[in-house]
Amino acid sequence: MKVLLVGGGGREHALAWRIAGSPLLTRLWCAPGNPGIAQHAECVPIGAEDIPALVAFAREQAVDLVVAGPEAPLTIGLADACAAAGIACFGPSAAAARLEGSKAFTREVADAAGVPGAAWARFTDPSAARAYIRRTGAPIVVKADGLAAGKGVVVAATVDEAEAAIADIMESRVHGASGAEVVIEECLVGQEVSFFALCDGTDALPLAAAQDHKRVGDGDTGPNTGGMGAYSPPSVFTEALREEVMARIIRPTLAEMVRRGTPFRGVIFAGLMITDAGPRLIEFNVRFGDPECQALMLRLEGDLLAALHAACTGRLSEVSLGWSAEPSLVVVMAARGYPGTPAKGGAIRGLDAAGAVPGVTVFQAGTARGPEGGIVASGGRVLGIAARGPDLAAARDAAYCAVAAVDWADGFCRRDIGHHALPHPGTIKAA
Ligand code: AMP
Ligand code: GLY
Repeated sequence: MKVLLVGGGGREHALAWRIAGSPLLTRLWCAPGNPGIAQHAECVPIGAEDIPALVAFAREQAVDLVVAGPEAPLTIGLADACAAAGIACFGPSAAAARLEGSKAFTREVADAAGVPGAAWARFTDPSAARAYIRRTGAPIVVKADGLAAGKGVVVAATVDEAEAAIADIMESRVHGASGAEVVIEECLVGQEVSFFALCDGTDALPLAAAQDHKRVGDGDTGPNTGGMGAYSPPSVFTEALREEVMARIIRPTLAEMVRRGTPFRGVIFAGLMITDAGPRLIEFNVRFGDPECQALMLRLEGDLLAALHAACTGRLSEVSLGWSAEPSLVVVMAARGYPGTPAKGGAIRGLDAAGAVPGVTVFQAGTARGPEGGIVASGGRVLGIAARGPDLAAARDAAYCAVAAVDWADGFCRRDIGHHALPHPGTIKAA
């Protein structure tokens, strides 16, 4: 099978690594890829959102399957364009990708499907939004309706903070057009879990869960990011909870999407809050999580490519995937300045030494080749140092040992990945 993977981050590096190991694979390209992905795939210089060029390339090369990594190409119709060209694509249509592209749409679908979630309201008028916030009180959550690279959400502890978020999102438009509408939600309390399931339109196959660390600072402090680290499986996510989430959240949502004439194919990512009253939906994404995917791929047993292809061809019931009982953990190394403007161009050395630590796999995200051919930083989240081990503490220690081997002046990471499940910090060497 000839495969074109779309994207160029840490998630795509992890997907490329597993797809490359499939006995079904004959050739793998990645657009645009990165130097880490180039170890497993032929990188082609086509942007992940250049739909006409991606489809033309897939046609020329007689690609059998296009695999979408990020949400952006899906929300602008990558899967639709592939379908029109007769090419199988792993990922939802633009209509179904609205589950991620619009928070208000997601809440409407979830309500129609009876999915348990937070109380919410939507506003296009900042004064009405402010009045609602004053009426409801804090804590309260303010979200830009559209895509904002995981940064359009403010969990406000006070009414003042929530009102400031309205000013930033709706009036100063710090996230651009995504701030034309806001969704305001009840603040849910509990442990957050990212859960993934493969979907073929009508059927769903549960994958595994992971716990992300969204805040930039240790102890879950500072601004939200795309994710600073993850581990899998999260101890709070029992098998019973997984069944409850499939029955009350995933399957009803798929049925509602079918009812609307926009069946969902691809991987659905349910951002959940495990509250005292049970699991509650925070959001859907229409892709694997980054860095959750890196943690999942370390535990996956079975043929990922066969499973992705089956999801595109309505044969999910034939797929069996297993998960290693060994836990995995990934530490994201980001560039100074992230989640604001990251420092770019800094040389990164020591990746081979990091990858040589037993149990460790190094995934590259925002990396590029510098003028002398070495690896340099080119984005906010730059490396995902992942490890699997006999227990979570062992995986954590291996990952931080590898972090210490990375020589990158501008890099930083959280020092407490896994802290919900590992209350006692290990001996962490300085990076
Ligand atoms: P989202 O982009 O919707 O995933 O939101 C980003 C982060 O904000 C989530 O991962 C949560 O940590 C937090 N968050 C979003 N919605 C809520 C909510 N209703 N209650 C509590 N925290 C939330
Ligand atoms: N790590 C969270 C996300 O991928 O949205």
